[in-house]
Amino acid sequence: MITDIDGVGCTPVATGVDEVDRVLGGGLVPGSATVIGGEPGIGKSTLLLQVLASMARNGSRCVLVSAEESTGQVRERAGRIGALGPRLWLVGDASLPSVVAALEDIGPDVVVVDSVQTVWAPDLEGSPGSLTQVRGCTHQLVTLAKAGGPAVVLVGHVTKEGGLAGPRILEHIVDTVLSFEGDRHHGLRLLRATKHRFGPTGEVGLFEMTPTGLHGVDDPARLFLGDRCPGSPGSVVFASIEGRRPLLVEIQALTVPSSGPPRRSVSGVDSSRLGLLLAVLDRRAGIRLNDHDVYVSTVGGVKVTDPGVDLAMCLAVASAATNRQIPSGLVAVGEVGLSGELLQVSHLGSRLSEAARLGFDRVVLPATASSSRQPSAAAATGGIEVGFRASLAAAVEGELGSPVAGPALRLVGEPA
Ligand code: TYD
Ligand code: MG
Repeated sequence: MITDIDGVGCTPVATGVDEVDRVLGGGLVPGSATVIGGEPGIGKSTLLLQVLASMARNGSRCVLVSAEESTGQVRERAGRIGALGPRLWLVGDASLPSVVAALEDIGPDVVVVDSVQTVWAPDLEGSPGSLTQVRGCTHQLVTLAKAGGPAVVLVGHVTKEGGLAGPRILEHIVDTVLSFEGDRHHGLRLLRATKHRFGPTGEVGLFEMTPTGLHGVDDPARLFLGDRCPGSPGSVVFASIEGRRPLLVEIQALTVPSSGPPRRSVSGVDSSRLGLLLAVLDRRAGIRLNDHDVYVSTVGGVKVTDPGVDLAMCLAVASAATNRQIPSGLVAVGEVGLSGELLQVSHLGSRLSEAARLGFDRVVLPATASSSRQPSAAAATGGIEVGFRASLAAAVEGELGSPVAGPALRLVGEPA
């Protein structure tokens, strides 16, 4: 019977890196297998070195298998970010049998393999990084973990295009899939769990890359808000929820007449969602951009997955297209439906209190939010003025402020 089975062994061990523990729901589960994916250069090796150093300080036996960088390089980095200490072993070998032998010798609690694309097993076909090799090596390492072995964390590179041999093919083999993302040119990094057998997914860890390694960001406050220049159109702030954490993110848009086929370019938001919203703006709000290039991005390169971003994206595009500014104290939250209606989103209370805390003074919400199945929303407004709008057209008309000089589209029906 299920009740006869020992349920322990699933208790996480805190890594001591708070933002990692937040994402993992407490820490690493002994004997579990995790993949962490992210573009080259984003900071995976740095993060995991810090995690191992912290766990080693707390008494765990930790091994870093560096199959990609020389042990000298890793040693130098460890010195720079304060990761030197006892109980942390460095194995500079890419051949799986040698790695396994070293692990048997050391008997670690946690092993990081950096990266799964560079270790290789001589008994398998293909060169390191090939599908067969990556799958085979992962399988062997996961088996080792499951047989009462250490918690295993595998590093996997993904390319901008999603890449071959990235975490995607490994997803079903491991217990936890983490993604480390951000814009390499900004210091900010986000850690998310996209699969987690031991707890909820969706929680977000925030870090800042500094010359002394990654530092957790406790209070994201204004991190994803640009240095807003008052009066410049095309920028709207969205109060998002990532995991359980409210994050205020500035959405910026730019539209220019196309010189060829119209371009749509995004960073941080979904490009097919932008396509859909442009269609809704066209049909339901009279903002026609079929002969314009449209660019939409988030400040800090943060990836927004919360569907409530629709309204902010639409208002940013409408503001850019019409050259009308959006008051800088405004926050927008709402999903947009195909008929141009605004749809209710979850967690209004925490979105609004975060906006109020950061000094925003007005929030636009779907009208359905006023009938509030979320009574906390009204209570949490803390001095923020709430504008309820039933439709995208009403929000565009009501929230765009005065026009600023320069070429602009006119709203349909607006006098020349
Ligand atoms: P790295 O962890 O090597 O990335 P990945 O393993 O994902 O490829 O780190 C990449 C970048 O981070 C590197 O270009 C330099 C920068 N960095 C810092 O800014 N500060 C630091 O303390 C470290 C170690 C790296
Ligand atoms: Mg690396």
